[in-house]
Amino acid sequence: MNTVVIYDSKFGNTEKIAEAIARGIGSVSDVHVISVSEAARELEALATRPDLLIVGGPTQNHGPSAGLRHFTDALPASLRGVPAACFDTRYRGPVLLMGSAATAAAKAVAKAGAAIVGTPESFFIVRRGQMPLQTLEPGEIERAESWGRATASEAPLADPVAS
Ligand SMILES: Cc1cc2nc3c(=O)[nH]c(=O)nc-3n(C[C@H](O)[C@H](O)[C@H](O)COP(=O)(O)O)c2cc1C
Repeated sequence: MNTVVIYDSKFGNTEKIAEAIARGIGSVSDVHVISVSEAARELEALATRPDLLIVGGPTQNHGPSAGLRHFTDALPASLRGVPAACFDTRYRGPVLLMGSAATAAAKAVAKAGAAIVGTPESFFIVRRGQMPLQTLEPGEIERAESWGRATASEAPLADPVAS
């Protein structure tokens, strides 16, 4: 099994979550972690089509960051039809109030033909101090590792006919 984790991050927290998710996945699958800005080039360099896509980014203005939105709205052809799970980082609180990049990303990825696996997951930032210095709530790195492991363990294998 081969998984790609693709993320956007402005201040570094989502990057840490993406790396933690990949560590969790590493116990059940080969895994590559790629930022949205490198995605086109890095995906081309992969020898095989991924079996699973994990994609996430920061929630900004109640939705996905611009980088995440650009990536999911024009999902590379090599990822269309691949099972996918979405995550975000955001402040803790109801999705109706805070928004969720993962929820919007899941809709965009599904529109591009990917089969969504599980429900979008959020990892939380402490809303204290200046934004660039805000960090993840305690325990979120460990939760991301577990979520990655569980998501990869439960994902169906991609349809080999489609690859
Ligand atoms: C321009 C901007 C708008 C934001 N809007 C929201 C928002 O609507 N809801 C929310 O929960 N967090 C919001 N945040 C906080 C981000 O979700 C938080 O900074 C991000 O998850 C941190 O991830 P990063 O370190 O990878 O950038 C916003 C942050 C920025 C910079």
